[in-house]
Amino acid sequence: MPTVETVVTETINISSLYPSHMNEDIVMGFSQLGSESDWRLANTASIVESAKEAGITLLLENAEQSQQAQFSAIRSFIEKQVDVIAIAPVVQTGWENILQEIKEAGIPVVIIDRSVNVEDTSLYVTFIGSDFYEEGIKAGKYALDKMRNKPGGIRIAELEGTVGSTPSIDRGRGFRDVIQERDDMEIIMSQPADFTIEGGKKVMEQFLQEAGEQPPQLLFAHNDDMAIGAIQAIEEFGLEPGKDIIIISVDGTRQAFEMMIEGKINAVIECNPLQGSLLMQAAREIMGGRTLPKRIIPPEDIFTQEYAHLEIDHRKY
Ligand code: AHR
Repeated sequence: MPTVETVVTETINISSLYPSHMNEDIVMGFSQLGSESDWRLANTASIVESAKEAGITLLLENAEQSQQAQFSAIRSFIEKQVDVIAIAPVVQTGWENILQEIKEAGIPVVIIDRSVNVEDTSLYVTFIGSDFYEEGIKAGKYALDKMRNKPGGIRIAELEGTVGSTPSIDRGRGFRDVIQERDDMEIIMSQPADFTIEGGKKVMEQFLQEAGEQPPQLLFAHNDDMAIGAIQAIEEFGLEPGKDIIIISVDGTRQAFEMMIEGKINAVIECNPLQGSLLMQAAREIMGGRTLPKRIIPPEDIFTQEYAHLEIDHRKY
């Protein structure tokens, strides 16, 4: 069970809201947003395994990047009268109505991984997930440090994740807030690549074609999968990833660690997908009528190529 840093912004006494759900046999409906990356596969596996360990019956529906499919899954959970609904939202907007439907059905909601933009935060009990803005800050600080001795006019390329998703929005914002310290560092190209290897490769090929003689000197990829795809494109273009183009990515998958050891990725900002035990613990707390923090943030690190070999054997995903 990982240790957690909890940020308490608001607490809720659950027993007064969901008195009819204080039973022992818990059925959880979980709407997973997709299977786009190694991170996502590890996240799903963690939730499935933790449900088994916790003796919680899990109804899992994978929406494969469709918010509409998430709505359908959630409605099916309501029909089945599950005890708790967990949602990993593909994008952050458009959740009010469905959350209201769940509330009317008297089912508590846990938001996991990505957040929802809703005015009425009583529509969910707690949000368990990374601080994506902080991840962007860490990436920006590494970029500043790595380029500190390089003369100005530094060209940066950015591979964003799914349009409208919290990690993409917040990582981009955090990164920009830090690098603006140097007005001679500029994001010259930025495009979504859907958090996938294929997307990362395709968009990076496009960037390199467009840039011609002046390729970017630094790439910030919003996840490891896109960085891995970009590396393929960079190598096919005849450049050396990690040297000709400094690469920073997010997640910390085993494959990214291998690439760091090979010198192809310079730094990885950790985003921890192993959230299953936190989710199951939250479900138990809710069913027991106990109070939960409104926000639960797993602790996360930053790893650089110099120390990747010391960590790789400890990676669980
Ligand atoms: O929401 C977390 C992000 O989604 C991970 O960084 C990415 O790999 C995944 O697809």
